Amino acid sequence: MKHLLKLSDLSPEEILDILNLADQLKYEKKNGVEHHLLKGKTLGMIFQKSSTRTRISFEVGMYQLGGSALFLSPRDLQIGRGEPIEDTARVLSRYLDGIMIRTFGQDEVEDLAKYGSIPIINGLTDYAHPCQVLADLMTIREHKRSLKGLKLCFIGDGNNMANSLIVGGIKMGMEVAIGCPKAYKPDADIMDWAAENGSFLCTDDIFEAAKDADVVYTDVWASMGQEDEAEKRMESFKSYQVNQKLMKLAKPDAMVLHCLPAHRGEEISAETFEIHADEIFDEAENRLHAQKAVMVRLMS
Ligand code: CP
Ligand code: NVA
Repeated sequence: MKHLLKLSDLSPEEILDILNLADQLKYEKKNGVEHHLLKGKTLGMIFQKSSTRTRISFEVGMYQLGGSALFLSPRDLQIGRGEPIEDTARVLSRYLDGIMIRTFGQDEVEDLAKYGSIPIINGLTDYAHPCQVLADLMTIREHKRSLKGLKLCFIGDGNNMANSLIVGGIKMGMEVAIGCPKAYKPDADIMDWAAENGSFLCTDDIFEAAKDADVVYTDVWASMGQEDEAEKRMESFKSYQVNQKLMKLAKPDAMVLHCLPAHRGEEISAETFEIHADEIFDEAENRLHAQKAVMVRLMS
């Protein structure tokens, strides 16, 4: 593995290796064992969109591994004034040991990897959120002991989270069901791949999607960059809420996950959020451990 651009680039063995290392790093950290595996290394973090979890977990993770992280805002970089990505990639490769980037187009992340000579990590694009899904798989495995054969249901918009959950879930042997409005399906390439490679369902019937699910997942109705569409989306998604009525269809011990930030009363009811808060905040914590594992594999 040279980069983490999207989960479809990783083999099931590579994903499993990251999950195993993440578990080990988490366990050892909690038992006071420090691993300065990235001593003297620097990660650059480019954020074209806001972030709480991704920024802080990468920064803290790098610090815990003995390295340092630089927060690079496009407002301060020449990227914000039009310096091309291919030049930025080649310059930053001379200073840094790795780059984490959160941006809009997946092509920008792929171009950084193409023109640069250091590992690139996708910290979210409109197309994918691989770091989040590695933490999600880690959390599901912690709670359910294994992944294979479990049913993962996602309710909501078929964009970055749905795309990455489909690929990550299927690669780990899970059954994946997406419940979304017809106009908001996951990307066609992901749907085609899923149909050929695993047990996959995409339906506008959320009750069918959630039936017998082991994990029910949701995400905001209007993602970063879609603020102008918020009102229209509110209307399109209003019957796509994860709540206790929906959870009655899932298995009695089903988990609920949310990548956060959550909008209570929209994609998830306040009641369901609170019932499953421990799972959701374990998931947020695991961003740190999963990304430390990714950085160790890419940068050490
Ligand atoms: N889930 C997630 O990526 O959170 P942030 O947007 O806060 O980084
Ligand atoms: N779909 C959301 C995920 C946030 C972590 C967004 O892109 O804003």
